[in-house]
Amino acid sequence: MTTTYSRITGLGFYVPDNVVTNDDLTQYMETSDAWIQERTGIKQRRFFTYGKDTNASMATAAARMALDRAGLEPKAVDLIVYATLSPDYYFPGSAFLMQRELGLEGCAVIDVRQQCSGFVYALSIADQFIKTGMYKTALVIGSEIQSTLMDKTTEGRNVAVIFGDGAGAAVVQATTDPEHRILSTHLHADGRYAEELYLKDPGSSREDHFINAGTADSADSSVVMNGNTVFKHAVVRFMEVINEGLSANGYQASDVDLLVPHQANIRISEYVRQQMGLPEEKVFNNIQYYGNTTAASIPIALTEAYEQGRVKSGDLICLAAFGSGFTWGSALIKW
Ligand code: UT7
Repeated sequence: MTTTYSRITGLGFYVPDNVVTNDDLTQYMETSDAWIQERTGIKQRRFFTYGKDTNASMATAAARMALDRAGLEPKAVDLIVYATLSPDYYFPGSAFLMQRELGLEGCAVIDVRQQCSGFVYALSIADQFIKTGMYKTALVIGSEIQSTLMDKTTEGRNVAVIFGDGAGAAVVQATTDPEHRILSTHLHADGRYAEELYLKDPGSSREDHFINAGTADSADSSVVMNGNTVFKHAVVRFMEVINEGLSANGYQASDVDLLVPHQANIRISEYVRQQMGLPEEKVFNNIQYYGNTTAASIPIALTEAYEQGRVKSGDLICLAAFGSGFTWGSALIKW
């Protein structure tokens, strides 16, 4: 009996055209280009334009690029797995809206709320459904509009300078070729740290309707992050989950051709690179240009790496993420 695996056959991304530099942010808050670059590596990010971009429209653009590169019409898709922490509506999820924009009524959609690890979780879900034979072609999405969720004053500056907007997509298809496939995925979470990086409203567990309760203007309606705690856990969990993927497949760090980490902070990526003993060219970073785009960061980075010829047939590619939840995960791919 032949074994079914899954394989990424197309990649795409979309970022809004509104470039916001570090200097631009100094209009709203006390910060500086030097502080932001030194602490995070970020030079600029993209913020969406109201009336032009939506979470689902950005995902649709990324999906169309990925489908085109896979040589597929949208109608080939039988599963959408869509990761975002910033959906267009409270419900239903943005997967439904993108499905409608692509004219894919009837196919299965799954919304994933795993924040910075969202794309790795979504990829894993697609991989499992394809390996069981239930679906053949999945669209895996990470898309975020975070610029409207942040307090862009000095009070919220530790969050507001980091996050950006954008979307990335991967087409994942069934294959019987054991040499070019997703080798394994590894997922973890620890809800004890849920409030270390979270957005409280619009939450349902309160006495009154959240707007009646006067929360719309309060700090509860902006992202809150304990950056130091997140940072300390991130560097440990990144290493753990990368090593878990490598050892599950009999590989060592030196076998990795390209690590594409979630673009959280360049200092986190650099720490992981040094721990793994990898040269700089084996770790892909583009946080400089897009900031931290949460669920979108890995598919945007993977697409750019592919476009730059840094993802080649037969390469061992490692994706790894850590973020709010806490969640963390990795995917090892033989390209
Ligand atoms: O995507 C996954 C989730 N997120 C992450 O992985 C982020 C992980 N954490 C981080 O990247 C870092 O913790 C930050 C970049 C968020 C912050 O860097 P830090 O080195 O941990 O700085 P800090 O929070 O310890 O703040 C140091 C100082 C403080 O001033 P005082 O108290 O020392 O006077 C802050 O008020 O820097 C100040 N500060 C800023 N100054 C200028 C905080 N944010 C800013 C800012 N501009 N934007």
